[in-house]
Amino acid sequence: MKVLLLGSGGREHAIAWKLAQSPKLEKLFIAPGNAGTADEGTNVDLNVNDHNAVKEFVLKENINMLIVGPEAPLVAGIHDFFLNDEDLKNVGVIGPQSQAAMLEGSKNFAKEFMQRHDIPTASYKTFNADSLADGLKYLESLKPPYVLKADGLAAGKGVLICQSLAEAKAELNSMIADSKFGDASSKVVIEEFLSGVELSVFVLTDGDSYKILPVAKDYKRIGEGDTGLNTGGMGSISHVPFADDEFMKKVEDHIIKPTIDGLKSENIPYKGFVFFGLINVNNDPFVIEYNVRMGDPEAESVIPRIKSDLLDLFSGVANNNLHEKEIETDERYTAAIMLVSGGYPGSYEKGKEISGLDKMEDCIIFHAGTKLDSNKVVTNGGRVLAVTSYGKTMDEALEKSYKNAAKIKFDGSYYRSDLGFDIK
Ligand code: AMP
Ligand code: GLY
Repeated sequence: MKVLLLGSGGREHAIAWKLAQSPKLEKLFIAPGNAGTADEGTNVDLNVNDHNAVKEFVLKENINMLIVGPEAPLVAGIHDFFLNDEDLKNVGVIGPQSQAAMLEGSKNFAKEFMQRHDIPTASYKTFNADSLADGLKYLESLKPPYVLKADGLAAGKGVLICQSLAEAKAELNSMIADSKFGDASSKVVIEEFLSGVELSVFVLTDGDSYKILPVAKDYKRIGEGDTGLNTGGMGSISHVPFADDEFMKKVEDHIIKPTIDGLKSENIPYKGFVFFGLINVNNDPFVIEYNVRMGDPEAESVIPRIKSDLLDLFSGVANNNLHEKEIETDERYTAAIMLVSGGYPGSYEKGKEISGLDKMEDCIIFHAGTKLDSNKVVTNGGRVLAVTSYGKTMDEALEKSYKNAAKIKFDGSYYRSDLGFDIK
């Protein structure tokens, strides 16, 4: 098969790394890719939001499958564009159409969907400019902390957790009246604060049957002990010890099945990954959010634990015969540690030369914000690369990743050294 993968992060490198091992793969292109994906296939300089440019490339190279890494092209309707085009409608697309992508693209849509299908989630109410006064009153009826969520996509920054009523009221005003997150905060979901440990559960579905992938935990805050600003993710670990058979049965019965069945019953087609962002509240799983793609940095620990041929599973998704496929997983732990640029998630410099990559032992490097600059690998983003290792225990996997991470040098580099602290 000839495959085009859209995206440029660690998630896309992990997917490309896995696809490159498939005997079914003839040719892999990654657009735009990074210095790491260039080792797994051919990077192409395409604007992934320009549907016509993607079409031209797909036709020129006789691509049979389009795999969409990030959410933005899905919310923008790239899958719909392929289905509505005579020349493209037979190309398999991994990633849902725009209607289902609303599960990620609109928090209010996701909450209403969960309510309709009795899927456990925090109680909530949604407000807009016309109901702002009601929203301010509603806040008065709640206890701190207050959770405010911009309805639309806000580059991962649209969720605010406020400790005081005054702060929550000021933020609600600024989101709705002053468009703090632009159009994305013209509606705001206010919801009950849930307390517990979060985890990420992924399924791959063709809209009918589904396969559950290895479970992971990601570390979102910049500082040790989960403190400081939110980031795109500072690393991930797969297995999550508390997600044992009993807990996962609750996840499947109360969350996964009702979601897939709910989509079917509402005639909402879905082909691709469903990412359930969950929280464990006293041993019961609740949905914090849906995403319509693989997680990043979860992909860097989850994909290496998939033993089956990922391209074969994707074919099952595209051809509606996922139920005929088996998914085999590696029982070992994986730990992915993210190295980031100094200053991230605030402003940071790019173009720093990365050394030490030739000294790696018994680990996998997944590039994120890197590029090749006259044959040297240099930094090109906030999250620079992930170091993933396997271990029979979580500690063994972490120890190997940390040993290798310490050998990678670039000006200003930083990583968290406490991953796993809350689930050991
Ligand atoms: P989201 O962008 O929806 O993933 O939210 C970002 C982060 O905010 C989540 O990963 C949680 O840590 C936190 N969060 C979101 N909703 C809630 C909630 N209802 N209760 C507690 N924490 C929450
Ligand atoms: N790791 C969280 C995300 O991919 O959104």
